[in-house]
Amino acid sequence: MKSIAVRKSRGIHGTITVPGDKSITHRAIILGSLARGTTVVKGYLPSDDCLHTASAFRSMGVSIQEGRTASGPLRIEGKGLRGLSEPSGVLDLGNSGTGLRLLAGVLAGQDFFSVLTGDESLRRRPMRRVVDPLRRMGAEIDGREGGNMAPLAVRGRRLQGIAYALPVASAQVKSALLLAGLLAEGRTVLAEPLPSRDHTERMFRGLGISVEVEGLEISLKPPSEFSGREIEVPGDFSSAAFFIVAATIVKDSELMIRHVGVNPTRTGLLELLSEMGAEIRLENLREVNHEPVADLAVRSRPLKGISIRPESVPKTIDEFPILCVAAAVAEGETVVQGAEELRVKESDRIRTIARELSKLGVDLKERPDGLVIRGGRKLSGARCRSEDDHRIAMALAIAGLVAEGETVVEGAEWIETSFPGFPSLLKSVTG
Ligand code: S3P
Repeated sequence: MKSIAVRKSRGIHGTITVPGDKSITHRAIILGSLARGTTVVKGYLPSDDCLHTASAFRSMGVSIQEGRTASGPLRIEGKGLRGLSEPSGVLDLGNSGTGLRLLAGVLAGQDFFSVLTGDESLRRRPMRRVVDPLRRMGAEIDGREGGNMAPLAVRGRRLQGIAYALPVASAQVKSALLLAGLLAEGRTVLAEPLPSRDHTERMFRGLGISVEVEGLEISLKPPSEFSGREIEVPGDFSSAAFFIVAATIVKDSELMIRHVGVNPTRTGLLELLSEMGAEIRLENLREVNHEPVADLAVRSRPLKGISIRPESVPKTIDEFPILCVAAAVAEGETVVQGAEELRVKESDRIRTIARELSKLGVDLKERPDGLVIRGGRKLSGARCRSEDDHRIAMALAIAGLVAEGETVVEGAEWIETSFPGFPSLLKSVTG
């Protein structure tokens, strides 16, 4: 087991970039494999999660070559919508809920049999949310607990487009159904309770696939085929989030983070931190492959607690561990509600962040759907555990920058699932 040790920082400075967006990289690998011809993915994220997705498509006959240098592009020779071949072994998606759920959608409409699985954490996560609507489209999927848990066995079938209202705001469910919809007969029409990240819809448009969005309704007309192209992946906002909070809460900090994706379905953290008093400027706003991108200039500021409404949850979904760290430092009370989805992430993030931050001296209370954090107490360094969850590990490392003494985070190897190079980047800005 790896651990990282962090000490109180006297200021965060510099200009950095963060690795490519995980959600966009997954989608580029999947759609590049289903396209006809070559797709070149620049700035892709070479993290464990995305590499598992790439290796699943290699097992189905797709040639995917990684660049010779770390920043070299990924080159995918797509097989077309129905050109994948039956994998001879089980497809292991590691820790990645996105990989497994999106692949369930792709495989439901193929002409072969496949089995999807993942690590211990992924095999505990709920799959009925994708399996049920896919079955309504005609899919034949089985798994543990009647199809709610991986391993999932998928017998490909001819699918029918459906009209379906998603019970939870989940981009993974929405995207699995849209990918299945590419292979279905007739339109797939989805309604979301609140907007979730829309990278799939944007990439579809970039590839010339007809998808109409009106408010919370998305309607897909399946194409007969589509062609590969160049895709550029911006820096991952969810990775930038750790540095945004670090530069906000460590006194005397000034940090520039260049080329970060600022898709509004992802940037709830910016709105919430601004309401708490943070100073984050978006500069050089531009569009790359239908995705908004900007440079973020962050300075340290004192924060105050706020009450977070359930509407903010989907656009902040991956940022709650680090937001809780900001709330711990803020003066006054922060209330998180309507966030029960956090209990079914890579770990139960409500329980884990509450338990681990209290080791540093944070005053907080767990609730079924969130937390109440009474901020402003002095934090003291402690030995913490990531609970095999990358975002918990990174959030605790940032908390260590404002705690007296040393903070040790055990289970730091999980950071590789989304943010290779995090410890050295952190070191480079803390001096
Ligand atoms: C993701 C969607 C979100 C998010 C996850 C990535 C995606 O999950 O938490 O890290 O790429 O579609 P849900 O759709 O389950 O909320």
